[in-house]
Amino acid sequence: MNVAVIGAGTMGNGIAQVFAMHQHAVTMIDISAEALRRGREAIGASLARLAKKGSLTAAQVDPILARVAVATLVSDAAGADLVVEAATERAELKFKIFAELDAACRPGVILASNTSSISITEIGARTRRPELVIGMHFMNPVPVMQLVEVIRGQATSDATTRTVMELATALGKTPVEVNDYPGFVANRVLMPMINEAIYCVMEGVATPEAVDTVMKLGMAHPMGPLMLADLIGLDTCLAIMEVLHRGLGDDKYRPCPLLRRMVAAGELGRKTGKGFYPY
Ligand code: 3HC
Repeated sequence: MNVAVIGAGTMGNGIAQVFAMHQHAVTMIDISAEALRRGREAIGASLARLAKKGSLTAAQVDPILARVAVATLVSDAAGADLVVEAATERAELKFKIFAELDAACRPGVILASNTSSISITEIGARTRRPELVIGMHFMNPVPVMQLVEVIRGQATSDATTRTVMELATALGKTPVEVNDYPGFVANRVLMPMINEAIYCVMEGVATPEAVDTVMKLGMAHPMGPLMLADLIGLDTCLAIMEVLHRGLGDDKYRPCPLLRRMVAAGELGRKTGKGFYPY
């Protein structure tokens, strides 16, 4: 299958990698040539890691990389049999990309979004094929995490849902079907926990290290919520909290002021070298 992935960032390059590892020809599309270069580099590093621990043979690495082409225009997705959009988490940007994809792609092609919290129903409404628009929400790090949250918008058809569930399974993932409400399930449950952990730091209840240790050793989480926030990106965490706050209208979802302050300062976590921890 020819798959176009829109966006070469953390999620986009991970998604491109997983499709390429399962024999699909991928075109990774980003307006920034630099982002494409870094995206390919990240795929190379991740494949090297998998080869080092024996999940892949060294001989498999180059053919997988060779299956990932790059391009800079959304219209370069025209030949795709499936599109997965993983652009920056901004509603207006996604709406524009989906309108362009709808114009460029053949009728019948499924347009999936990796959005972590923007309404699939609203995205679908920007196209003339809302029955073929669906959420395909991968988790970070994409090559490692088992889950794909499959989100049905108001108009998403049973056939589209079935196809995407089967596809996710064929990629070695476990899909879970959920409906389109703010934050879906993954971020509706995860982000308030992260936000509360940030309140604990802001109020001086405990240090970031202490909060993370409580959750790691006390609740068997693989990493603490603040280290996870640094991995996800604090800007993404804030954007998701704002979607929950606005979409559900309940102040229990208000973003922590410390989260806002760190984002304003450009302390976004791993990707900027500083968040709750230095990198
Ligand atoms: N590519 C390939 N392999 C990778 C990798 C990558 N990018 N990152 C990690 N790995 C592999 C390692 O090689 C290692 O493999 P092994 O166990 O077979 O030797 C394994 O994953 C574990 O990695 P590490 O030993 O380096 O470190 P950890 O044991 O701490 O695991 C982790 C790292 C997998 C990230 C683990 O800490 C974890 O599961 N953390 C929680 C991640 C999580 O919750 N993700 C969801 C975020 S929410 C989200 O994405 C939704 C969005 O909308 C916000």
